[in-house]
Amino acid sequence: MPDNQTFEAVDQFIDGLFASEDAALRRLRQRAAAEGLPHIEVSAGQGKLLYLLAKLIGARRILEIGTLGGYSGIWLGRALPPEGELVTLELSEAYAAFARASFNEAGLGGQTVILTGPALQNLPSLIGPFDLVFLDANKDDYPAYFAEAARLLRPGGLLLADNVVRKGAVLDPPADDPMANGAAQFLAALAAHPEFESIVLQQVGIKGHDGLALARRR
Ligand code: DHB
Ligand code: MG
Repeated sequence: MPDNQTFEAVDQFIDGLFASEDAALRRLRQRAAAEGLPHIEVSAGQGKLLYLLAKLIGARRILEIGTLGGYSGIWLGRALPPEGELVTLELSEAYAAFARASFNEAGLGGQTVILTGPALQNLPSLIGPFDLVFLDANKDDYPAYFAEAARLLRPGGLLLADNVVRKGAVLDPPADDPMANGAAQFLAALAAHPEFESIVLQQVGIKGHDGLALARRR
């Protein structure tokens, strides 16, 4: 069984071939390190996967819950046609300001709307349809985000959710791990939802052991 060092080396090899970062993404990383942002953004390869999935479904309106510094938002935004729009929700005013600069530097300023504050306060006022919804904020609130995503996605739309495996903690979530409990409850609700056909992609690599849920709204 390969160890995590091997998984990381292969991840870096894959990203080197298929997910190289341009100047805007590299600069975002430098600013994030300098300003002390949590280093929990998607990897370059995960960003490329988001980009490809958005392009494959021809996404024109994308909703992201959990902007952080705008790293995944740039990958998603780059999949949009010129008239497309990314709406992204961020709790922290400081991260939102950082992400605003990231989107501007990436040339996506005019296609990006950042809504600041608790996502569960901002979501009810959003009007669909969205072609793609990406969950990557508070894992505890994934079940509630899912209810809003189901309302906002168009038929045939794509729901993606990061961090649904949590190093296997989702199998039997400890009482003191709200993230794993949120992920487990979300997966149970997703599996039981008659309007979604879904799967989870288990992932290993530079972000450790985790997983991405993919679901198509019927
Ligand atoms: C962590 C990773 C993530 O991708 C995220 O969105 C939040 C937290 C983590 O590993 O702690
Ligand atoms: Mg994540």
